Amino acid sequence: STEQKRSDYELMMHVAKFYQHQLKHHAKSSQVIEYLKGRGLSGETAKQFMIGYAPSEWDSVCKTFAKNQDSKKQLLELKLASEKTAGRQFDFFRDRLMFPIRDKRGRVIAFGGRVMNSDDNGPKYLNSPETRIFHKGFELYGLYEAKQANKKLDQILVVEGYMDVVALAEKGINYAVAALGTATTPEHIHTLFRTTDRIICCYDGDRAGRDAAWRALENALPYLNHGKALEFVFLPDGEDPDSLVQKEGREAFELRYDDATDFSAYLFDRLAQEINLTTDAGKSKLLQQALPLIEKVPSDFYQENLLEKLARLIGRTRAQLQKKINTPKQQQG
Ligand code: UTP
Ligand code: MN
Ligand code: MN
Ligand code: MN
Ligand code: MN
Repeated sequence: STEQKRSDYELMMHVAKFYQHQLKHHAKSSQVIEYLKGRGLSGETAKQFMIGYAPSEWDSVCKTFAKNQDSKKQLLELKLASEKTAGRQFDFFRDRLMFPIRDKRGRVIAFGGRVMNSDDNGPKYLNSPETRIFHKGFELYGLYEAKQANKKLDQILVVEGYMDVVALAEKGINYAVAALGTATTPEHIHTLFRTTDRIICCYDGDRAGRDAAWRALENALPYLNHGKALEFVFLPDGEDPDSLVQKEGREAFELRYDDATDFSAYLFDRLAQEINLTTDAGKSKLLQQALPLIEKVPSDFYQENLLEKLARLIGRTRAQLQKKINTPKQQQG
């Protein structure tokens, strides 16, 4: 019910504020603050993103918020608490740096938590599972904060991690968002193109990051309407936006997407990587792989550009290829 959801959002915000309070007042506060400083984050940025600390005790949140049977149940349902034996609840997040995930209206809907000691076992990041108010694949970490910080978003950087978003904001690049440990979905692209005309994907300089870029391209093609730009920045091996902006600073980092790779160049670069275009077999293979992707693009203008490029690569004319395209498509966007 809406009543129940309203109370869910209230509880999530209270818990976020509780974690925020612990960051300053818990016995381990100085260690947590040292960790933040070590990663180059100021108190101001921590505050902007409501970064907090989930205490190391096993039941801090439960003790503070489980006042009766209803609130115990609610903590379980929102995945703030777990129980192994019936009735014995413990905190889901313990001894972690906490990143509240907010929806577009600023409501806290989930958390991501990072371990601070490398010798800790368990995953480096723990994320809230799906709940009735948190649907992964739809939400983007940092989008609310980016909208708050900018009247108009001329561009949005899509990065992989929480730390990338906050480290970039720290350096004044306050328009980055992260797709919460999932691929960048069609819904993400749809949401982003309602907010900006230019999406720049900037994933980690590793195999996973490059694969994420290709999936983002495939998912974005149906949303490439007139005037929408989709670009890609590929980072050096082993770097991510956080590590790189720390090293080279804001200006040098921004230069990297001054001449970002346009989606059309990336599309053919990637396809051509595994194809020998000096043979007829290679050329027909490229045609076979590129056409279904090109068909997805709703803008005629972009589609014509893509066909032009493809024609040049395989020694045909655009007119010859145009005939092979299934034209009637639904405009999305
Ligand atoms: P990365 O491992 O690249 O994280 O994972 P990062 O942001 O660079 O983290 P730092 O710099 O080590 O702090 C990217 C994203 O993938 C998800 C998180 O959302 C993370 O921000 N992830 C990663 C998880 O959900 N669980 C993990 O164990 C690791
Ligand atoms: Mn869902
Ligand atoms: Mn990574
Ligand atoms: Mn990373
Ligand atoms: Mn990182």
